[in-house]
Amino acid sequence: MTVVHITGARPNFPKAAPVLAALARLGLEQRLVHTGQHYDDRLSEIFFRELDLPRPDVNLGVGSGSHASQTAAVMVALEELFSSEPPELVVVYGDVNSTVAAALVCAKIGVPLAHVEAGLRSFDLTMPEEINRKVTDALSDLAFVTSPEAIGHLAREGVPDERIHLVGNPMIDTLLTHLDRFEPGPAQAAHGLNGRYAVATLHRPGNVDGEAQARALVQAMHKCADLMPILVPLHPRGRARLLELGFADHPDIRVVDPLGYVEFMSLVRGAEAVLTDSGGVQEETTVLGVPCLTLRPSTERPATITHGTNRLVRADTLPAELSQIADRGRPSSWPVPPLWDGQAGPRIAAIVSAWLADRSSVAGA
Ligand code: UD1
Ligand code: UDP
Repeated sequence: MTVVHITGARPNFPKAAPVLAALARLGLEQRLVHTGQHYDDRLSEIFFRELDLPRPDVNLGVGSGSHASQTAAVMVALEELFSSEPPELVVVYGDVNSTVAAALVCAKIGVPLAHVEAGLRSFDLTMPEEINRKVTDALSDLAFVTSPEAIGHLAREGVPDERIHLVGNPMIDTLLTHLDRFEPGPAQAAHGLNGRYAVATLHRPGNVDGEAQARALVQAMHKCADLMPILVPLHPRGRARLLELGFADHPDIRVVDPLGYVEFMSLVRGAEAVLTDSGGVQEETTVLGVPCLTLRPSTERPATITHGTNRLVRADTLPAELSQIADRGRPSSWPVPPLWDGQAGPRIAAIVSAWLADRSSVAGA
């Protein structure tokens, strides 16, 4: 009888690492499955090398595809894997296709499910992640939430109170665990950055898939690069389109491959500002006190605005917002959301362990 963790895409790895570590400290038997949704070294392997993650016990090797084909490939492979030895509990992370695929398989074959980072809502169903979040939460036996508003979202969707646990943010456990390794100086020198600079990450379909949006973004980023150099570790989604539209044709837009976690966080830590459409980066900048401009109409992480350094912007407002940050400089103090204290993994592990003990005592009675 085992706890099985499902990971597959870049944001899963820093969330899973502290949960696996905390459960290992309690001596629970566990297995790590990698679906293979992300397979490039820079989106996958490098996190295993840097974050002390155990090697995956299984890699399903599903690779890229349409939403249906990718989700279905994970489902078929997991159903087969679980049929020989059903797990005692499956733990899924975040909102990627691998997450919802595992949730559907567990629900159909009767395996209990825990969702880490449950209850986040952008209320924008054009985001594939919002669909994945809602479906996964509806099927979860344990919902681990990172911030209080998620409790209300789940309650309104009919999730019973006893399933919901406010535990803090495991992504921030990882950040705090490795904080001492984030050294801006050497990372800046390696990228030829001296003085003020921004870091940008862009990969949301709403920004990079459509030509009109991508063109507006390229123009806005060029205006921003007139203010300060921008280092862009560019995700493969949209890379070709952005480059075709002349994204890199500005001397102060520095496009590089996706970076490893430590190098990326080192550069974020030393940046004047971060421009992003990422989910996790909004949270990391909140804790590091780095001003973050999020190129999205909504965020499922409102605590990064109410407590943190985040602001939602559009392409046409981005340059003016960056200019204001350049005038103001970085904040000297800032609040951090409650329980984003590096202890989410141990809280999750304690609840999982008690829940498993309860179930086995009921089964044995
Ligand atoms: C996925 C998640 C998104 C998350 C992002 C994090 C879904 C629906 N989306 O988006 O929520 O924010 O990961 O990075 O799960 N590709 C490569 N190498 C890889 C993987 C992908 O080149 O290792 C390319 C392929 O052309 C692929 C495209 O990137 O078609 C998109 O990959 P996919 O996993 O479908 O979605 P992401 O955009 O990465
Ligand atoms: N990240 C990284 N290198 C990069 C960009 C991102 O290590 O070049 C890390 C960072 O910690 C971020 C995480 O990967 O929070 C997930 O990022 P991504 O934006 O891919 O996913 P999202 O959070 O939007 O789902």
